[in-house]
Amino acid sequence: MAKLKWALIGGGEGSQIGPAHRLGALADGHFDLVAGALDHRPEAGRAFAQSLGIAPDRAYGDWRELLAAEQGRPDRPDLVTVATPNATHYEITRALLSAGFHVLCEKPMTVTVDEGEDLLRLSRSTGRLCAVNYCYSAYPMVRQARAMVRAGELGRIRLVVTNFSHGHHGDATDAENPRVRWRYDPAQAGVSGQFADCGIHALHMASFICDDEVERLSADFASTIPSRQLEDDAMVNFRLSRGTVGRLWTSSVAIGRQHGFDIQIFGETGGLRWASEQPNQLIHTPVGGRTQIMEKGEAGLCDEARRLSRVAIAHPEGFPLAVANIYCELADAIRGTPRDGLPGAESGLRSIAAVHAAVASARQGGAWVEARPPMLR
Ligand code: NAI
Repeated sequence: MAKLKWALIGGGEGSQIGPAHRLGALADGHFDLVAGALDHRPEAGRAFAQSLGIAPDRAYGDWRELLAAEQGRPDRPDLVTVATPNATHYEITRALLSAGFHVLCEKPMTVTVDEGEDLLRLSRSTGRLCAVNYCYSAYPMVRQARAMVRAGELGRIRLVVTNFSHGHHGDATDAENPRVRWRYDPAQAGVSGQFADCGIHALHMASFICDDEVERLSADFASTIPSRQLEDDAMVNFRLSRGTVGRLWTSSVAIGRQHGFDIQIFGETGGLRWASEQPNQLIHTPVGGRTQIMEKGEAGLCDEARRLSRVAIAHPEGFPLAVANIYCELADAIRGTPRDGLPGAESGLRSIAAVHAAVASARQGGAWVEARPPMLR
C-alpha cells in the first residue's frame, strides 16, 4: 500500500507535543513527513525541518508559505497536523480545510464556539477530515473500557469521576517561562487555562467511555497563582444526557501529582478504573465480586483493544503509540475505511462549548448551565 504524505505545522524543536506527533505519525509506516512549518521563528523552523529529513524547498518558515506552495503540488500532503498554540488553530485549520487538506488539529480545536461550529460545517461541506487529537481515547485499554460499557457489562452508568491534575505549573517563580505563560494568557490560550488545556481531555474521556454527551455543567475556577489571568485549577460537576453524574477535577498546581489523569466509571453492576500512568491496565470490579486487573495484550479483549496494541503482554507501548493509534485511524479514514473511535470536529466543538459553559458557570458562582453547542442541541 502506498504511503500517505504528511505535513506538520508547529511541533518545533523543544515543543511539548511535537515529538509525540513525529513518533506517532511515522510509527506504523502509514505516513512520510514531506513538509513542515514547525516553529514561530522562521529560520529555526526551516533548520529543524531539514534536520528531520524534509527537503529544503518544503521546509517552510511560515504556515502560509506552506499552504501556498503545497496546495498546487501533485504530490501534496494527504494530511496536515496543526500543533501550534491554541489561538492559531482555527485560522490555520480553516485555511487547510478550505484548500482541501485533511487535518489533525490539536486540542482545543478552536477558542470560540462559533469557530468550532464553522469548522464542523466546513469539514462536513468539504468532506475533509477534521480530527482532534484526543489521543488518550486511543489507548487500547480505554477502548476496552468503552466496549465493556457499550456491551452493558456495567449496567446503567451512574457515576463517572475523572481527574487531570498535575503540579508542573505549581512553581510561581517559573510562571513567566514562555512555555508556561501562554497557557494562562487569554490572547494565546482563549477564555480558559487549565480546563481548556487538560480538563477537556478528561471531559472527552468521560463522554467517550460512557458513549454519551455532556449536557450541562457547573464549574468552580481558581487562579491560585494570582498573576495568572486564567484558571490553574477547576472543579466541574456535569451531567451526561442519559443521567450519569459526572465529577471532574483538573489542576496544574497539584505539586507531587505527575501526569495525574485517571477515570473511574461506576455502573449498576460494576466499576472500572483506568489511569494514564498505568495505561496497560484496566481495573474491573463486578458488583459483589473480586477486583480484577485486565492487561493490554491478554486474551479475551475486544477487537479494538487488540487492533491498537502492537507489542506483547506486559510490554509498555505508551503515549507516542496512543498518538500513533490516532494516525492509524486517520490513515484508514483517508484510505476510505473510517473507524468508529477517531475523535472528529464534533468532539472538538463539544469540548469548546463545554469550556465556554464552564467559564460562564464559574462567573455565576457555579450556576448550572447548558454545555452543548447550539448546533448540536
Ligand atoms: P509548545 O509551546 O511546547 O510548542 C509550540 C510549538 O509551536 C513551538 O515549536 C512553536 O515554535 C510552534 N509555533 C507557535 N506558533 C507557530 C506558528 N504560527 N506557526 C508554526 N509554528 C508555531 O506548545 P505544546 O505544548 O507543544 O502545545 C501545542 C498545542 O498542542 C497546544 O494547542 C496544546 O493544547 C496541544 N497539546 C496537546 C496535547 C495532547 O495530549 N493532545 C499535549 C500537549 C499539548
